[in-house]
Amino acid sequence: MAQPPNGRGYYVKMKLLHKHGRPHLQDKNCFYRYYKWLLWLSLSLYFFTSYLISNNHVKPPSQNNTTTHVSRALIQSNHTTPPHALSTLGSFKYLKVFVYDLPPKYNTDWLSNERCSKHLFASEVAIHRALLTSEVRTFDPYEADFFFVPVYVSCNFSTVNGFPAIGHARSLIASAVNLISSEYPFWNRSRGSDHVFVASHDFGSCFHTLEDVAVADGVPEIMRNSIVLQTFGVVHDHPCQKVEHVVIPPYVSPESLQDTIQNFPLNGRRDIWVFFRGKMEVHPKNVSGRFYSKKVRTEIWRKFNGDRRFYLQRHRFAGYQSEIARSVFCLCPLGWAPWSPRLVESVALGCVPVVIADGIRLPFLSAVKWSEISVTVAEKDVGRLAEILERVEATNLSSIQRKLWDPATRRALLFNSQVQEGDATWHVLRALSEKLDRSYRSSRVSRQLNLDT
Ligand SMILES: *[C@@H]1O[C@H](CO)[C@@H](O)[C@H](O)[C@H]1NC(C)=O
Ligand SMILES: *[C@@H]1O[C@H](CO)[C@@H](O)[C@H](O)[C@H]1NC(C)=O
Ligand SMILES: *[C@@H]1O[C@H](CO)[C@@H](O)[C@H](O)[C@H]1NC(C)=O
Ligand SMILES: *[C@@H]1O[C@H](CO)[C@@H](O)[C@H](O)[C@H]1NC(C)=O
Ligand SMILES: *[C@@H]1O[C@H](CO)[C@@H](O)[C@H](O)[C@H]1NC(C)=O
Ligand SMILES: *[C@@H]1O[C@H](CO)[C@@H](O)[C@H](O)[C@H]1NC(C)=O
Ligand SMILES: *[C@@H]1O[C@H](CO)[C@@H](O)[C@H](O)[C@H]1NC(C)=O
Repeated sequence: MAQPPNGRGYYVKMKLLHKHGRPHLQDKNCFYRYYKWLLWLSLSLYFFTSYLISNNHVKPPSQNNTTTHVSRALIQSNHTTPPHALSTLGSFKYLKVFVYDLPPKYNTDWLSNERCSKHLFASEVAIHRALLTSEVRTFDPYEADFFFVPVYVSCNFSTVNGFPAIGHARSLIASAVNLISSEYPFWNRSRGSDHVFVASHDFGSCFHTLEDVAVADGVPEIMRNSIVLQTFGVVHDHPCQKVEHVVIPPYVSPESLQDTIQNFPLNGRRDIWVFFRGKMEVHPKNVSGRFYSKKVRTEIWRKFNGDRRFYLQRHRFAGYQSEIARSVFCLCPLGWAPWSPRLVESVALGCVPVVIADGIRLPFLSAVKWSEISVTVAEKDVGRLAEILERVEATNLSSIQRKLWDPATRRALLFNSQVQEGDATWHVLRALSEKLDRSYRSSRVSRQLNLDT
């Protein structure tokens, strides 16, 4: 029997088979008739339930407290695609996001420095921009499922080292929350649980770049109920992810990648076997326990700097993207935090990422099959890197590359200035649409569904 187009029909059939027991195989004719009847019945049931389900959206909830959202969630709980509230056209029919219009000191003032919208933490800017023109945006906060609070905290670049100083982040966010909670009723009614923030830097929602301080400070009290979009993510318990969060990729400008790809096509010549460019301290110091993470890089340097197949560079170079595009394997070892923009750049430029960061939680697991497009090496095995990569090259490199070069994979990690189906902001919206149970509106009986098709 052909596999029905989705799990719904399959489920119905399985249930039927179960109910009636297995058909007797001795009587072929009877079996055939029974089988045909069963097929007919399951097909009609399938179309009937599909009809019911699709019409469920149109009918107002018959009972006070049974919200359509809940019933839809139950019916579709076994569906991977399409996810909740996601129509087949790839748009988010039922999702509504209200974007607070905050005074410019919270966001756009920072754009006077043009690095603000381009550097690796710029997803806070990119997501805001994309939402402003997105079809999910609503201007009526009463019909919103989620409330986006656009505060840019990563653009106060230090004049000394060029890194963003985020010491002001907590007070800036607190001030923004104070403003919205006094001017609008929405924060208070949900205690912020349907409000969305971006925290795109190291240890995101803890707002400190040193892990021990970040851990000691924890997530600011005011944000603890909210949804935080953050680059930081580990699979184990961590105080900086004790908040509802969505792991997002770091920001890399799609335009710069496009320029690189034009000169270095994905399937072009890759004359570098293993590439890494970045800080590798020869004598790492133990600064508040950060020692350990840098140690991995130091070990790579010590062990493989003499190996001609490894192209390891310790200094900044503006043209490094072309080096990635010329490489087969790109090392993505942890630095101060487990993640780095290398991961996105490697995927976007078709270089197989070699993830060396124990316990890292990667973004958009449902869209990006990380285990099929990257190589993971445990931190303790870093000394065996050459051996491990030789084996991958000999066995499954071409299948990894084929999946890696799939445009859908590469698109999922990039933020565009307008939401494009399948891009990073789109996946953020998809993640939000799976959290509709946090939506005050969706949990109300009086929820008005958007009925136009
Ligand atoms: C909800 O139910 C109550 C009583 O069961 C009824 O009085 C009320 O009008 C209902 N509200 C809506 C919005 O249907
Ligand atoms: C609806 O839910 C409220 C609590 O959420 C409950 O008090 C009320 O009895 C429920 N009404 C119906 C009609 O189930
Ligand atoms: C989803 O389907 C799988 C089999 O396809 C089944 O094992 C699982 O229990 C189902 N889950 C739910 C929530 O129905
Ligand atoms: C920016 O960071 C510096 C520390 O590097 C701090 O002194 C200054 O107050 C911050 N600026 C704002 C506007 O928060
Ligand atoms: C929300 O709660 C805060 C603190 O309890 C209060 O100061 C503020 O006025 C409330 N906002 C609204 C709109 O009622
Ligand atoms: C590194 O520093 C941390 C915190 O300062 C300390 O707990 C740890 O023992 C140090 N490790 C080594 C190897 O010196
Ligand atoms: C490559 O092959 C090895 C075994 O030969 C397997 O363990 C590994 O998961 C494969 N990797 C990918 C990304 O397919």
